[in-house]
Amino acid sequence: MREQLEQIKAKAMQALQEAKESSELEALRVSLLGKKGELTGVLKMMGKLSAEERPVMGQLANNVRAAIEARLEQRKAELAAAALEAKLKAEALDVTVPGEAPALGHKHPMYIALDEVKEIAIGMGFQILEGPEVELADYNFTKLNTEEGHPARDWSDTFYIKEDSSVLLRTQTSPMQIRAMEAIGHPPIRILAPGRVYRKDEVDATHSPMFHQIEGLVIDKGITMADLKGTLETFVKGLYGEDSVVRFRPHHFPFTEPSCELDVQCFKCKGAGCPTCKGEGWIELLGAGMVHPKVLEGCGIDPNVYSGFAFGIGLERMAMRRFQISDLRLIFENDVRFLRQF
Ligand code: PHE
Repeated sequence: MREQLEQIKAKAMQALQEAKESSELEALRVSLLGKKGELTGVLKMMGKLSAEERPVMGQLANNVRAAIEARLEQRKAELAAAALEAKLKAEALDVTVPGEAPALGHKHPMYIALDEVKEIAIGMGFQILEGPEVELADYNFTKLNTEEGHPARDWSDTFYIKEDSSVLLRTQTSPMQIRAMEAIGHPPIRILAPGRVYRKDEVDATHSPMFHQIEGLVIDKGITMADLKGTLETFVKGLYGEDSVVRFRPHHFPFTEPSCELDVQCFKCKGAGCPTCKGEGWIELLGAGMVHPKVLEGCGIDPNVYSGFAFGIGLERMAMRRFQISDLRLIFENDVRFLRQF
């Protein structure tokens, strides 16, 4: 019996050593120590031993059992440690490998230019407003002193939404003058309203059926043409530098009187004439004028008490000059190879 026990122990130790999985260990535990296990089988034969031998064998059997149990626990721990090691190795993360940088976009050149204008305007106390692109003909034309029958209202130039010509895609941001006066109600009013406008133009290097304007409107007591000139000059100097030179040319708009256009002296050739200014020495920048008394009246503002000026800047044109972009289409194509340059 001693031999048998020694044999069981030796066999068990061998098997435990060879086990590679915790499931194998569990199977060994059952087959060695379980109710129907080998050791239990031997212990069942204890009854046949003499009274002297019995405690000795009992002691030995307990030792074998304890040895097997201890080794079993040890192997369990070893296998668990090995499994953990393998898992860590398989899931190893090399924190020194360079990461993949996320592709960051940036502002579109047109919005860079717009933000510059906004910045200057906010510095002068202007409020930024936005309004609808689908507009009433009333706001786009009638309230801007552009009566029915005026050539600007022609179907060949304007995208009308309704057959009766009452709703359209705004052809200018000037309806924001009306909306601002109606919304704010009473002067002082100082607003800047950038946005999309639409005209039936064929696409080419300088035309697009959709483009952007920035509308400005100032109304208060005692506003004169001098305020218009001073404010617009401040804008231009902020955008193109303190040494930029401007000139005002008479013009006509139905909703301003008097009206003018502002040119800035070509910053490339300083007025001598070059390809940037098409040889003229001056670059047209915006339309402006003193708000027509009829327009003020139509919005419930007494032209005998208040006066004001308005201006409209072509945003694409401004951005094209600012970044020396030669073709308007590039602004809308959104080719990242182009946009990345700014
Ligand atoms: N809305 C005019 C245009 O589109 C520009 C303008 C705005 C002129 C405000 C005078 C005052 O040409």
